[in-house]
Amino acid sequence: MKKVVILISGRGSNMEAILRAQPPVEFAAVISNKADAAGLETARAHGIPTAVLSHKGFDSREAFDAELARLIDGYTPDLIVLAGFMRILSEGFVRHYEGRMINIHPSLLPAFTGLNTHARAIDEGCKLHGCTVHFVTGELDHGPIIAQAAVPVLNDDTPETLSARVLVQEHRLYPEAVRWFAEDRLSLLDGKVRVRLDTVDPSASLRFPA
Ligand code: GAR
Repeated sequence: MKKVVILISGRGSNMEAILRAQPPVEFAAVISNKADAAGLETARAHGIPTAVLSHKGFDSREAFDAELARLIDGYTPDLIVLAGFMRILSEGFVRHYEGRMINIHPSLLPAFTGLNTHARAIDEGCKLHGCTVHFVTGELDHGPIIAQAAVPVLNDDTPETLSARVLVQEHRLYPEAVRWFAEDRLSLLDGKVRVRLDTVDPSASLRFPA
């Protein structure tokens, strides 16, 4: 069974969705850069070992990332899952985990990298918004896309209502992507992810307004 380490910084609702889905993996640890991350308690309640490594007190991003990599590698994971881990990652760290570190981002990438994605989608008048699970590369919120889910943007949406609608899809999408990795269904070809699924409906579409 593949071993998974999950990195969080806060609430950990995506982490919880993944733990609840019980994909065929061994959860080796949940690591947070913040001691007060609510997700740590949730992880413990699921019987998963937890660790905290605060980024404060390190001289540089590289120094923190090197220590974090040492901590992660102690668990010998096959996959690193970033679940609301709100840190910009150094080049060396990303390279070290190339092809075995995934992230979820609350937008339909490559649109709206960075923060405040829901407010920006509303400001741009987008009719569809959503979330993306992708392999992590050196560029922030970029990298080969594994899966995406879209939701409609409604006329009276606020960033809060839109974020809640997207989060429902995040909780569906991320566990699925972890399962695909565990089942060796993902491959990278020319920088693009191929997902090997038993059935795909090529006529499927999502359109809004319909
Ligand atoms: C999620 O919405 C996730 O997509 C986002 O942070 C939230 C974490 O929530 N991640 C990013 O913005 C990464 N760039 P959670 O702690 O409840 O999973």
